Amino acid sequence: MIVFDSVTKAFGPKTILRGISFECPTGKSTVIIGPSGCGKSTTLKLLLRLIEADSGTVRLDDQDVGKLDRPGLDDFRRGIGIVFQSAALFDSLTVWENVGFPLIEGSKQSSTEIRRIADEKLEIVGLAGTGDLYPAELSGGMQKRVGFARAIVCNPAVMLYDEPTAGLDPVTSTVIEDLINTIRDTTGATGMVVTHQPTTIFRTADQIVMLHSGNVLATGSVDDFKNHADPAVRNFIEGRVDEVTTAK
Ligand SMILES: Nc1ncnc2c1ncn2[C@@H]1O[C@H](COP(=O)(O)OP(=O)(O)OP(=O)(O)O)[C@@H](O)[C@H]1O
Ligand SMILES: [Mg+2]
Repeated sequence: MIVFDSVTKAFGPKTILRGISFECPTGKSTVIIGPSGCGKSTTLKLLLRLIEADSGTVRLDDQDVGKLDRPGLDDFRRGIGIVFQSAALFDSLTVWENVGFPLIEGSKQSSTEIRRIADEKLEIVGLAGTGDLYPAELSGGMQKRVGFARAIVCNPAVMLYDEPTAGLDPVTSTVIEDLINTIRDTTGATGMVVTHQPTTIFRTADQIVMLHSGNVLATGSVDDFKNHADPAVRNFIEGRVDEVTTAK
């Protein structure tokens, strides 16, 4: 499981995280919510050690992310699949080459083997048979799914999603939410999903962690949040309040 233990982080004079602690159980999806600028994306970057915590620890099972040496960190990162808001595919590569791209560099696998793995991942995301197409031949929603296939090509134990449904129409959002659940169920990967969208919270969360003003304001299931004593928490997940924007 992923553990954040008393993690603090400041950027210059601006303290973003004031000692946050939470756990993301293995094989479950933890949805991170909170106002814009509260540090949601920062938690994902701390897990990847793209940025370092000022104090506290971030752990995956028995590994302290802050203590990994360079080769250890490279190995650790290979075990993490990442999906951003945009699919960020290479236009000049076919769909299967995009999916297999993380395997090509430094790989001992033949291109036939990489193609086989890419096709297997395309099938998981519901895109069987599209390997020879180019990204431009796919709809935006399909391109997003190619991004998901690429994210799981190295069989990650952890999947990170940063605003995976932002800017999508409701139908495509639903497809992506289903896919997040499919990946959890078929690969057993532990998920961290950063999102603002109530549907995405409700449809993907095994657990919700709400950050606010540098602290964990609430942790629990969707039902716990819907029945939370603090109206700010209830309103926030229902999308009923304008977002309280913290200083950027
Ligand atoms: N590398 C950095 N240097 C300086 N400030 C940063 C850096 N990364 C993030 N910040 C600041 O830290 C705060 C938290 O950023 P973060 O991206 O984690 O917010 P967020 O909760 O993901 O917000 P949003 O919902 O808008 O994506 C913001 O005020 C941001 O401007
Ligand atoms: Mg963010």
